Amino acid sequence: MKIVETITEMRQVRERLAEPVAFVPTMGYLHEGHLSLLRYARAENSSLVVSLFVNPAQFGEQEDFSTYPRDTESDFALMAKEKTNIVFMPSTVEMYPPNFNSWVDIRRISEKLEGASRPGHFRGVATICAKLFNIIQPDRVYIGQKDAQQALVIKRMVAELNLNLELITLPTVREPDGLAVSSRNVYLSPAERQAAVILYRALCLVRGLWSQGEKDAEKTRQQMVNLIKQEPLAAIDYVSIADAETLEELDTVKPGALVSMAVRIGETRLIDNVALD
Ligand code: PAF
Repeated sequence: MKIVETITEMRQVRERLAEPVAFVPTMGYLHEGHLSLLRYARAENSSLVVSLFVNPAQFGEQEDFSTYPRDTESDFALMAKEKTNIVFMPSTVEMYPPNFNSWVDIRRISEKLEGASRPGHFRGVATICAKLFNIIQPDRVYIGQKDAQQALVIKRMVAELNLNLELITLPTVREPDGLAVSSRNVYLSPAERQAAVILYRALCLVRGLWSQGEKDAEKTRQQMVNLIKQEPLAAIDYVSIADAETLEELDTVKPGALVSMAVRIGETRLIDNVALD
């Protein structure tokens, strides 16, 4: 496994990689969710490139960029175990030189849900992904459904900017009690960790209502809210039942609808989602 820190070297080593080349973008602190992406990518391709870059452009001023969990040595060991060929780990100045001023903005869908709570977040995500895709030139990119809106933003960017790659979105990996695995789960105290399962319980509630034939989206949202409010450590940022392509809130639930939420458990903001089928 080779660790590459500059764009120039990344372009040089890319030329020698066997095709097809898979790419998994990460901000490190790898967990089972990342590892499932690495395993699929490894199994379906001849070469695997993984990036490790905590992207300052996608964090708001009040957010956790400086305290975002980092453990590079453990990440390297896990990447090597999954037979990664190249780790691309650029510095901030390599990716954002002084006076950097070009941004990729996928309008409308970036402004809803997470985008409404975290202005500028998806501009940061889309910009870094566009840069990484341009530098690495992957044939296939693997991302997780856990960040459903991020997956949608990247999908739109790939389609609308005619990027020559296949985007593969893989299912959310969950703990045995249903909590979606996330690097931010490390912030949870034991009591908060127990409370955090309320997000998954709310998704299960919606799935149950949907399978019983409930189609009233507002009633369903209200039931989610009522359930989450029973957990004293939880504070709702939003609950949403939206069209999975436009992210417009629905009046009537329909197959494929994206049910998503952001909930603070203590100081930690967690997100989760499910698509109804
Ligand atoms: O999901 C993440 O870890 C990040 O948003 C990504 C896609 C690596 C871009 O920084």
